[in-house]
Formats: sequence, structure tokens, C-alpha cells
Amino acid sequence: MDPPVTENDDWTPFSRRSALLAAAASLTAAGVTILRDRFAFAAAPASAAAPTGPFTLPALPYKDDALAPVISAQTIGFHHGKHHKGYVTKLNELVAGTEYAGMTLEQVVVATTGKADKAALFNNAAQIWNHTFFWNSLKPGGAGAVPTGRIKDKLQSSFGGVDEAKKALHQAATGQFGSGWAWLVAAGDKLEVVKTSNAERPSAGKKPLLTIDVWEHAYYLDFQNRRADYVQAVLDKLIDWSFADKNLG
Ligand code: FE2
Repeated sequence: MDPPVTENDDWTPFSRRSALLAAAASLTAAGVTILRDRFAFAAAPASAAAPTGPFTLPALPYKDDALAPVISAQTIGFHHGKHHKGYVTKLNELVAGTEYAGMTLEQVVVATTGKADKAALFNNAAQIWNHTFFWNSLKPGGAGAVPTGRIKDKLQSSFGGVDEAKKALHQAATGQFGSGWAWLVAAGDKLEVVKTSNAERPSAGKKPLLTIDVWEHAYYLDFQNRRADYVQAVLDKLIDWSFADKNLG
């Protein structure tokens, strides 16, 4: 069942999280559960780019050279400035004059998931969300901070430790055939690692905590065909465990 549309909202995970929660509050109990479990996350506040339609490109939470040398400013320029922006531009084109123009990004994803005739809408909407979540999963020097608190305990109980969790993420990221994503998710009280193809997101009941983009556009300029090296460098130098901790809720 499609979720009810409550407002014409250009929510972005960076700047309009409160709007999402307000919209979610007016949905049915089931709808609230879906949105909060699958979409809400603890994003760093940042200003969004000037809107050119109902959906906008969120600004990066750091400068474009802040992740170098693992992810160069050149890669960021294409990845955020061309690919991520391109999904926003395309989604705005697709929703023009349709009921989807009045939905939040999350509502578009929910309403189009699993519908073959809505694949273009889903792919572009989900890719906007996935990329915003990915940028927030990284932090300059983020991996240098040892996980603490609940995320440390859950990494220990679910995987046997941080290193084991990193190995599981590396295995998922390198084992994903073709384009896709590796995710750390919360499934009830346990943490799991899952991989998804193209724009697909973890299934319902698996709450994303952090993700790694393994589309070639994420690493080819810096690592060419060496995806394993890119993933290892991300895990060793950039991954933000505190973001995962916040997303535990
Ligand atoms: Fe990407």
C-alpha cells in the first residue's frame, strides 16, 4: 500500500530531518515504523544546495578534499557533483506533474520499491538517499576513533570485535558483483552486514547504520580496478563508527 502523502516537502536528510519526523508522525502506525526504521538517521547538519525542484542535492558534510588521499577531490567532484546531483536532477524530471512531486524522498522510495513500472523513480530516489547516507558514513580521520559505547559492545557481540566487523564489511563490499553497496545494519538486537545491488537498500527490518558505495564511480579515479584496496582504505581511515552508533537510535 502506498503511504499517504501529508505535505509537499523537499526534505533532505541533511537539513530537513525534523520535517521527516513531523511527516512520519501523521502517518499510520505502520507507516511511522517503516519510515523511522528504514530512513531516519543521525545526519550532521549542513546547508543544502539551492533547490531547483521538489528534491535537492544535500551539501557534503566536509570539504571536497577532506577525504583525500583515499577519496580525492576529483572523485568527490564527479561523485557528488555529477552522479549524486544527476540523480536529483533526474528525479525532479520524473516527478514533474505527478503525485510523487508532493512526496518526501522517503515516501517516493517506499511507494516505488519493488514496482517494475516505477523502477526509474525508485532508482533515482534511492540513490539520492543512499549517497547522502554514504557521505555521512565517512569522516576525515573517522576510523582513527576507536568505537565506544553501544556500537563497540554490539560490534563485539555480533562479530567478535571491530576488526571482525571490518572483515565482514570488506568481504561484502568486494563480494558484491557489479555496482552496489555494503551495509552495516541493525537487525533487532544484533548487527549484520549485508550487500545490495545497484540502488537497492537493505530489506525491511534491517536498519542501516553505515554504508560503503562500491559502484566503480566511487573509486575508479583513485584506485582503478582495485576495489579491495579502496574498501580497505575506507575502513581503515574514513569510516565513522560514531555515525553508526548514533543510528542505533
Ligand atoms: Fe555512488
